[in-house]
Amino acid sequence: MQHSARVQAARGGWVAGAFALVLGIAGLAAAANSFVLFESGQVRPLALSPDGTRLFAVNTPDNRLEVFSVGASGLAKIASVEVGMEPVAVAARSNTEVWVVNHLSDSVSIVDLTGTPQVVRTLLVGDEPRDIVFGGPGGTRAFITTARRGQNVPVSVPPLLTTAGTPRALVWVFDATNLGNTLEGVPLTILQLFGDTPRALAVTPDGHTVYAGVFHSGNQTTAVSEGAVCDDSNLNDNLVPGPCNIFGVTMPGGMPLPERNVDGIGRPETGLIVKFDNPSGQWRDQLGRNWNNAVKFSLPDLDVFAIDATANPPAQIGLDSDQYAHVGTVLFNMVVNPANNKVYVSNTDAHNEVRFEGPGVVGGSTVRGHLHEARITVLDGTSVLPRHLNKQITYSVVPSPMGTADQSLATPVGLAVDHLGTTLYVAGFGSQKIGVYDTSKLEGDTFDPAVPTGVTYVPLSGGGPSGVVLDEAHSRLYVLTRFDNSVSVVNTGTLSEELSLKRSLYNLEPASVVNGRPFLYDAAFTSSNGEASCSSCHVFGDFDSLAWDLGNPDNSVLHNPNPIRVPGPNPNFHPMKGPMTTQSLRGMANNGPMHWRGDRTAGNDPGGNPLDEDGAFKKFNAAFSDLLGRSGPLTDTEMQAFTDFILQETYPPNPNRGLNNTLVGDQKLGHDLYFGRVTDTVFNCNGCHVLDPPNGHFGTDGFTSFEHETQMFKIPHLRNAYQKVGMFGMPQVAFLSGGDNGFKNAQVRGFGFLHDGSVDTLFRFHGATVFNTSIAERQ
Ligand code: HEC
Ligand code: HEC
Repeated sequence: MQHSARVQAARGGWVAGAFALVLGIAGLAAAANSFVLFESGQVRPLALSPDGTRLFAVNTPDNRLEVFSVGASGLAKIASVEVGMEPVAVAARSNTEVWVVNHLSDSVSIVDLTGTPQVVRTLLVGDEPRDIVFGGPGGTRAFITTARRGQNVPVSVPPLLTTAGTPRALVWVFDATNLGNTLEGVPLTILQLFGDTPRALAVTPDGHTVYAGVFHSGNQTTAVSEGAVCDDSNLNDNLVPGPCNIFGVTMPGGMPLPERNVDGIGRPETGLIVKFDNPSGQWRDQLGRNWNNAVKFSLPDLDVFAIDATANPPAQIGLDSDQYAHVGTVLFNMVVNPANNKVYVSNTDAHNEVRFEGPGVVGGSTVRGHLHEARITVLDGTSVLPRHLNKQITYSVVPSPMGTADQSLATPVGLAVDHLGTTLYVAGFGSQKIGVYDTSKLEGDTFDPAVPTGVTYVPLSGGGPSGVVLDEAHSRLYVLTRFDNSVSVVNTGTLSEELSLKRSLYNLEPASVVNGRPFLYDAAFTSSNGEASCSSCHVFGDFDSLAWDLGNPDNSVLHNPNPIRVPGPNPNFHPMKGPMTTQSLRGMANNGPMHWRGDRTAGNDPGGNPLDEDGAFKKFNAAFSDLLGRSGPLTDTEMQAFTDFILQETYPPNPNRGLNNTLVGDQKLGHDLYFGRVTDTVFNCNGCHVLDPPNGHFGTDGFTSFEHETQMFKIPHLRNAYQKVGMFGMPQVAFLSGGDNGFKNAQVRGFGFLHDGSVDTLFRFHGATVFNTSIAERQ
């Protein structure tokens, strides 16, 4: 509510983004009066020219490519070239031709360095492109990862937002020697891989094989909705309920214990997270019960795909079953060891099948401090060998003993290997350091982070190292440090930063962004084990595409002071809330109370206003100890800095709406329904999901409503529905009986819509009994 200035800024950014998309021009965000914070994750921010005389760095906030000359005395800036919005990756095709991936503009800028460096061509690609490598004959083919959606996908690759089993990971391939005659360029091919949106790419030294990794690849977990859990309402027997029958299908029945919180108050009925056990072929909960009857799809969890870059056109090598599965939950970057061709994948692995946060006394389990383990997974032939980088952590001890964080590396991202293939450099985005690993010890899992000689960590003067590039001719490693938007130089002989060689990139981010950012990512400061941070799950300020059961049975029921649109039974917040999908931290300004239920609310403060986001976000200070395992909360000053930063984060432009902002086909029908007749018992969609952009409302005004659920939920915003498409298949349950309940086979995501991610399509949700006539049939 008090953030209208920021909203204006965000809208300015949206419009600027749309124009930049249309016109292929850049730098418009800079022209706006206020800085718009998109917080795009950098993927490959640095590249060296093949002859080693130039270093290229993306300046993400300033929408530029920075060009440095490389010499014995260090780096000298020689050019700064405006590219598209939020550049996140760069690759040099030759000493004079550099390609830059613009994450927000859905484009690739080709920069020519002969004469005055400038963009000579802009190729349009799929939504939110992330990485780029060159491969194939003579390295002439560019491979670019994008989502399967956006204004530039051709009719031959429709987004198929409602089609089950659609491959959603695209790799666009361009022939750099023949870009086509159209303005936007003609791709040689667009590969469709059986995963959700991809991120990382890597290429073998001979250019023959390109690897593509799925960003939020998941970990074979999903949520069984509360209807299918068929809980019993007898919370007095202190027993796990027995099997039950739903529409003729037998389910194990009921939630694992406990039934009550520390005060003896019975919990609401909730859903349950289950994980696929590959040996037995069963979807299991923590009690080992088989929930196969409740999961109507399978998750092959394919993570890394191999592509023949020399084929005409380039193609996936082998079948889906030949690809690499179970590499990690969130995959960041990849590199090929030039000596043995093994692939290293930086990733994190989530423990969302474990229930509860907090001390875990009443509940008997907790994820506190043990969220996403930081790993490098080695792909060796057909073997997938995960290596936990922080195996010295004893997760059961919280807070961790002093010194634990010094031995940890958090959020491993950018990677580089020397030409002998003996040393791997890993940028620890959440640690402000580079981890230096002996590759044979990493492969053999014989490294020990706990002994001083086990792993070398190179501390950096700037936080958020996102990418690394080796300059072996000068015995240097260049590191882009995102927090201070700089390029650091590490001497690979002494393994220390050469501070005098550090170069800062021009940064137009306000102090409120720069000062608050570390609280999101810095695991050394915000946890005690040095691995856990808010960004473990809120990856680059967004989400991890998972649900977690972060209830806390050691907590008490909390009063619900939030304004209510449609009242329902017992609005108060029981601490055993059940599975909830991780929410994005984007676009929280003007949205009022936080969490799916709105249980983080300023309304419980004396004189507090439930629609005050600033006060709501400060309630998350408790999560530093309850969830990250920090020894205590942040100071008020630190929490204010974090709040001032995070409430500026905004969404990228809508990928499904026309660039001229008009609605086509079904979109128009949907719009008219949204504002049209009453579809609920009392309201049309807009009656609850308030759509009022000038006042910063994109589907919510912060109110709560009864919605035929066992708990009251805040009416959610609708801005990231596009990221939740890809889980299809649901069993018949009492409250969501509409739709096709058949087995839907392999899917690319384990979580879909609503608070617990258990609903596969909006179509089904709107066919549910809660709506007075089946909207589904009319759509
Ligand atoms: C283990 C994964 C995980 C970690 C770590 C995590 N979160 Fe979350 N976050 C979630 C989930 C799950 C939800 C939804 C929970 C709910 O609705 O009850 C959420 C929701 C939120 C929301 C609400 C967004 C909205 O639009 O209402 C905020 C704000 C938030 N988290 C902040 C934080 C902060 C700050 C930290 C670090 C102190 C943090 N989170 C750490 C998983 C995580
Ligand atoms: C009575 C108020 C109300 C009305 C009317 C209503 N909704 Fe909702 N909607 C909610 C609430 C509350 C939730 C959250 C429920 C949950 O998470 O379990 C929700 C959830 C959703 C979600 C899931 C969001 C996500 O991120 O997963 C979508 C999409 C949605 N509604 C769209 C619609 C559309 C479209 C209409 C009109 C056809 C509509 N809603 C009508 C209250 C309402």
